[in-house]
Amino acid sequence: MTTRREFLIGTGAGIAALGTARLGNAQDLGQRPEPELGLIDKIVHPQGRPLRLPLVVSTWDHGLAANQSAWEILKDGGRALDAVEQGVRVTEADPEVRSVGYGGLPDREGNVTLDSCIMDETGNAGSVAFLQNIMHPISVARKVMEDTPHVMLVGEGARHFAMDNGFPEEDLLTEKSRRTWKEWLKTSEYKPWAPASDPAHDTISMLAIDKQNNLSGSCTTSGLAFKMHGRVGDSPIIGASLFVDNEVGAACATGVGEEVMKTVGSFLIVELMRQGMSPQKACREGIRRIVARNPDWRDVQVGYLAVDRSGRVGAFCIQPGFQFSVMNEQGNLLLDAEHWEG
Ligand code: GLY
Repeated sequence: MTTRREFLIGTGAGIAALGTARLGNAQDLGQRPEPELGLIDKIVHPQGRPLRLPLVVSTWDHGLAANQSAWEILKDGGRALDAVEQGVRVTEADPEVRSVGYGGLPDREGNVTLDSCIMDETGNAGSVAFLQNIMHPISVARKVMEDTPHVMLVGEGARHFAMDNGFPEEDLLTEKSRRTWKEWLKTSEYKPWAPASDPAHDTISMLAIDKQNNLSGSCTTSGLAFKMHGRVGDSPIIGASLFVDNEVGAACATGVGEEVMKTVGSFLIVELMRQGMSPQKACREGIRRIVARNPDWRDVQVGYLAVDRSGRVGAFCIQPGFQFSVMNEQGNLLLDAEHWEG
């Protein structure tokens, strides 16, 4: 099946759209076109070649700007952990991304509540959940990882920890998101499982491999729009939204968190890669587990993204529409993930 894909190239100074092309035209990032469409395994990795390292991948088109920021660290030999933190901070601070950080859509009571996690090459991890009024939950999650004996802080505890560590309190509900919420209140119709036709998209998750061949990952979101107050999704749950194993690879998720949590998706994908599956096949199997157990899978969107430590990339989703961004020295590329055909 052929679908139209966008082909974007980033330069050190920023991202410039050079035009559009079929994904199959991208034999490799920034290299000569190849005419045939097929699996990502064939397209991004013709002859099974991994992408050149260092490498950063992230979910959705907002990943293009996030990748660019991460790349500034990776290209100079910086640590993947710093790259995945700095990368998603761009998205957290962008009020136009209505599913992450500042400007994120609120819960049904009008509160912007944030979930985030981070994991490094040693298997160390930190996370925050149900955090309010702090612009950069990813950096709070990193502080939890590095400066406490714990993995996860939630709610008021997380907020106090952030303030004690110098993070300013800020109102994250923008006028635009407040208006969207007020409009929603007129019907209060809650459809968290609707396919990702909403241009607001979803969680940003990011994976990077640095010049030292070390992996790290990050994930940050304001969660489902108009969720129940107190609802926490997959994004702060290590093993669900994100898992990194430096010996094997890393995986991350976007979409309806409940489905990802119930199948411990990212951990599953990394374990499948450990057993020899390619990142693409492992992501597909992660999606198959969700589809197999859920008769209503047509109403759910989940997307997985994975890299193995050699630089092979995989991405798979339930519904058409999940895009992901891939950047290395050869460019910054936005691709459509393959989806479940049923
Ligand atoms: N994947 C984001 C969430 O379900 O909250």
